[in-house]
Amino acid sequence: MKQVDVLIIGAGAAGMMCAIEAGKRGRSVLIVDHAAAPGEKIRISGGGRCNFTNLNAAPQNFISKNPHFCISALRRYTQRDFIGLVDRHGIAWHEKTLGQLFCDGSAKQIIDMLVAEMKRARVELRLRTTVDAVAKSGDTFELDLSGERVRCSSLVVACGGKSIPKMGATGFGYEIAKQFGVALTETRPALVPLTFDENTLVPLKPLSGISVDAVVSHGKTKFNEAMLFTHRGLSGPSILQISSYWREGDVISVAMLPGVKVFDALSAARSRNGRQALQTALGELLPKRLAQLIAENSGIETHLADLSDKQLLAVEKSVNEWQVRPAGSEGYRTAEVTLGGVDTDMLDQKTMETRSTKGLYFIGEVVDVTGWLGGYNFQWAWSSGWVAGQSV
Ligand code: FDA
Repeated sequence: MKQVDVLIIGAGAAGMMCAIEAGKRGRSVLIVDHAAAPGEKIRISGGGRCNFTNLNAAPQNFISKNPHFCISALRRYTQRDFIGLVDRHGIAWHEKTLGQLFCDGSAKQIIDMLVAEMKRARVELRLRTTVDAVAKSGDTFELDLSGERVRCSSLVVACGGKSIPKMGATGFGYEIAKQFGVALTETRPALVPLTFDENTLVPLKPLSGISVDAVVSHGKTKFNEAMLFTHRGLSGPSILQISSYWREGDVISVAMLPGVKVFDALSAARSRNGRQALQTALGELLPKRLAQLIAENSGIETHLADLSDKQLLAVEKSVNEWQVRPAGSEGYRTAEVTLGGVDTDMLDQKTMETRSTKGLYFIGEVVDVTGWLGGYNFQWAWSSGWVAGQSV
């Protein structure tokens, strides 16, 4: 029977990082994946350029039942460490916005880098391999891998979350957790477009394709990034970000002209040119179709000169305090990540090993640590994979 020190299920970002580090320490490592290629999510990430980390990555950019859990791993393997690795491989990169780092060329460079590092660390990579059974006897795990039985002393679960089943996401990691009595927190799609019910959607349909720079808030949480009207609801970075905090039934608040005193702008326009229509004045600040809809919805079809301050304040409110209740989200089909997962209470934050089963580790997205949009989720994959790689 084949025997290795470390067996890793999932050749994604976290699994490959763990494999590299364990291999560098002289451990024999086998990493398996049911997909035909490693790092498929890396390949499609960041529009094909992989937003591989964020210059500002810090614990406050992550959501978890225990917000302190991620601190140790993020400190031990930082964004600067990963940038160092990228630089050693001569991969050119740039900061796009808000500390988000992307490859100048293609996401494939990151995959090639990880595969080259795995080779150097003598890691065995097996693709198109299914895990048919997992068992533990004594200190050893036994796995049936596409018909072959393999033994290992450390088993690392790096199968990711449920997002984008079309790309091979299975939720298999959660099944292994259940098998070994490892608790899970509720999972839900995150970094996902939000959808409206028919009543909300019908008047907004003409706006499909329009994008504005917006501040989107849910309670005290706010994101200032682009927002896109879609044919089913709202999308764009600010909406994806807030979707990780939003729950069914909640209202979100949108400022479509953040930082602009709409009342002041409209009253100045009223003094300057009282014969101007409201939609024309708004159209100087917002996309024309959006300006038209806001003017129509406010029921004001007259010249600025006929509008009272009270009416202008109401218009300001509909532009910068638009309260809207999404009906749902686009779900795992398009969600970038899965919120929730393996309960961090069950894991040692320094190693990612389960407290209950010696030798069993969970890393990456399968764990209840979810980053904001902007390279944070890969940083969690690198950091959690790296710390596990020092311990397996
Ligand atoms: P990941 O999902 O990468 O890897 C899991 C691996 O396990 C996969 O290779 C899968 O095939 C394998 N697997 C699953 N079930 C299995 C089974 N039963 N048997 C064998 N193998 C199995 N993040 C970011 O920071 N910057 C970005 O630019 C983007 N962009 C982005 C775009 C899109 C479209 C998506 C869907 C996601 C992103 N993300 C992102 C999120 C990021 O991709 C994600 O957080 C990481 O890939 C998680 O890394 P993991 O290694 O944990 O899982």
